[in-house]
Amino acid sequence: MAKVKKAFFCRNCGHESPKWMGRCPACGEWNTFAEEVIQRDSGASSNGSLIRNESAKPLRVHEIEEQSQRRIDLGIAEVNRVLGGGLVPGSLILLGGEPGIGKSTLSLQIALAENGLRTLYVSGEESQQQIKMRAARLGVHNSECLIYSETLLENILTQLDEQKPNLVIIDSIQTIYTEIIDSSPGSVSQIRECAATLLKYAKTSGTSVIIIGHITKDGTIAGPKILEHIVDVVLQFEGDGNNIYRILRGNKNRFGATFEIGVFEMGNEGLLCVDNPSEILLSHYDEPLSGIAVGAAVDGIRPYLIETQALVSNAAYGTPQRSATGFDLKRLNMILAVLEKRVGMKMYAKDVFLNFAGGFKVSDTGLDMAVVAAIISSYFDRPIAEGVCCAGEIGLSGEVRPAPRSEQRISEAARLGFRKVIVSGYMRKGASLPPKGIEVVYIHRIDELPKAIFG
Ligand code: TYD
Ligand code: MG
Repeated sequence: MAKVKKAFFCRNCGHESPKWMGRCPACGEWNTFAEEVIQRDSGASSNGSLIRNESAKPLRVHEIEEQSQRRIDLGIAEVNRVLGGGLVPGSLILLGGEPGIGKSTLSLQIALAENGLRTLYVSGEESQQQIKMRAARLGVHNSECLIYSETLLENILTQLDEQKPNLVIIDSIQTIYTEIIDSSPGSVSQIRECAATLLKYAKTSGTSVIIIGHITKDGTIAGPKILEHIVDVVLQFEGDGNNIYRILRGNKNRFGATFEIGVFEMGNEGLLCVDNPSEILLSHYDEPLSGIAVGAAVDGIRPYLIETQALVSNAAYGTPQRSATGFDLKRLNMILAVLEKRVGMKMYAKDVFLNFAGGFKVSDTGLDMAVVAAIISSYFDRPIAEGVCCAGEIGLSGEVRPAPRSEQRISEAARLGFRKVIVSGYMRKGASLPPKGIEVVYIHRIDELPKAIFG
């Protein structure tokens, strides 16, 4: 008779425990343990037991055959960029994101793109008819793309054997299950076992596999977090549901740089690559308006220019209102305190509202100076001269610190035709000459900023 085993798993990190615990000792989260019944066939063992590997032998480093890493062009430029120049054969990729953000759309676009790959798109969420409707919207450029609606892993493996695709997409890992485990799809043990089997398949067949995983804000579904350490690449798809821009972020990449980002725009015919994010994040006005400043930002390793808008008005009530969209409110409060103390602006009697173009969320401290510039401009109701942008971090004593990758920011500003960029005077100078056609203004303290932006 098969052995019945029960265990408790943390839904956040997958930590296994024989008894229930209030707090996970591995990740520190509270109330995340759930009991799961694991029933294994007597012969089968865990970790991808569905695929047997012919025995490999340990080798000395010099005995291992060197293989130049071939990259497969997926036919979508921004995805290639995040992967570090294309897909590595035999890699296992996790594409995570909140429901409705566009993971299925992006992966179906990869499957339908003109890349010459024989792609098997396995959906456990949608029927073939539903996918056909979506494909009609996106436009089919790859006649080799196969669509398969299935949730049982054993059936999927049979099809993989039969069809021998070059790329497999699993939408999503929470919907597929294997018969050798008795818990429901989406549980920690199912997700682990299915992923381990797919990993083994990818490594033995040399076929790349993209696994889609939903992440919810409260983490109630066994999250893709437990998969992060077994996959080669973790991609995160993010964005504000109310906005059309989406960012694909490489959080982990065994074959390339992390910190790379890809920018997309969600349209009626799917996701479009945005090669030049600065162009969509800068507006052009007929006359200069007060409260608008341009910041030279860097996300990961990609520089872009973004418009910051501030509104400073007299507070009608005792406690002034402070609101920031896309920016950390605590950081805004800190910046306002610095302005009060170091520049002598009476912020205690002002409401302050802050916004970034395109609904972008920024966490780059190099945008501090642009935020200050927008606030100063609105406070004095004086527009900032055209063609001026800022890059610098503000310290508590009102000092302007250099933003990371300042040179890249300056180059991006020059490339977009800006005539003046204001940076920290503490920046290491002489490493490379500033590009031609742009004036670089160095300031040391925040009280020098008004002169620099209005002058
Ligand atoms: P989807 O890709 O199903 O998200 P996920 O798989 O991450 O849950 O859907 C994303 C949203 O995008 C959905 O609300 C509909 C919208 N959408 C468009 O705006 N344009 C399109 O061309 C398509 C296909 C979807
Ligand atoms: Mg989906």
